[in-house]
Amino acid sequence: MAIKFSNTFLLRKLHQITGIVPLGIFFFVHMFTNSKAMNGAANFDKAVKEIHDIPYLLLIEIFGIFLPLLFHSVYGVLISSEAKPNVMNYGYGRNWFYMLQRATGIFLFLFILFHLLNLRFGLIPGLTEVAVAGNADKAFSIVASDFQKTWVLIVYILGVIATAWHLAYGFFLFAVDWGIVIGEKAQKMTLAGCAALAVLLSVVGINAAFAFRSPCGLMPKALCEAPAAPAKAAPAGPTKF
Ligand code: HEM
Repeated sequence: MAIKFSNTFLLRKLHQITGIVPLGIFFFVHMFTNSKAMNGAANFDKAVKEIHDIPYLLLIEIFGIFLPLLFHSVYGVLISSEAKPNVMNYGYGRNWFYMLQRATGIFLFLFILFHLLNLRFGLIPGLTEVAVAGNADKAFSIVASDFQKTWVLIVYILGVIATAWHLAYGFFLFAVDWGIVIGEKAQKMTLAGCAALAVLLSVVGINAAFAFRSPCGLMPKALCEAPAAPAKAAPAGPTKF
């Protein structure tokens, strides 16, 4: 009998954990860092520089982000290829969510690949071909120049929404699968909470994307600590009274 990857207990649990612990936490931190663009280029560049100055950064990236991401996405694509969508037979919400989780997973595989080649490595022809890695002082201007292109902005907005939904619904599936949320009412409430989290993360991520086009992004300027204009230089020479 052929082995089904989706039935391999340990790999399945590892897939759930990698989605939540390193990758979920990374996404929260990443959206928070991106939001620093709301307060201007210098503020964002400083945040990126602080990340670049973390000791053992390359090892943290490899073992904390890239390897979990590789395992989570490759195993996720394998599960998706074995999925049997039944939305046509049963129109229940959960069946649609089941399909959406797989569809967003496959989209994210392509999006994250594009995103890494674009900003991390500066390798997408026709976009700013300068990597943010190693160029913290140009980080804002690299992202901002690519985000001037409407198609790039749209791809990133879709990437943010897909990640926010995939992660938030992943929290729900995790809570049910690990027996943390059992009763029907509790599951309904948890699902509503996760949907609200997906909306919140999407709003924060989309606003951060717009912040590379105008200060504060889509937020009213009154709610955002816009960068203060540099103080005027004192007049040179002695002042006469
Ligand atoms: C507003 C949208 C986004 C912006 C402006 C953005 C910006 C950036 C930048 C500038 C980098 C390079 C950091 C560096 O090399 O120092 C980066 C890396 C990365 N981004 Fe995003 N990002 C966005 C959305 C996303 C989304 C939705 C995901 C999905 C999980 C994601 C996942 C990653 C990953 C995995 C890295 C590599 C991290 C590393 O090299 O340590 N990003 N992003």
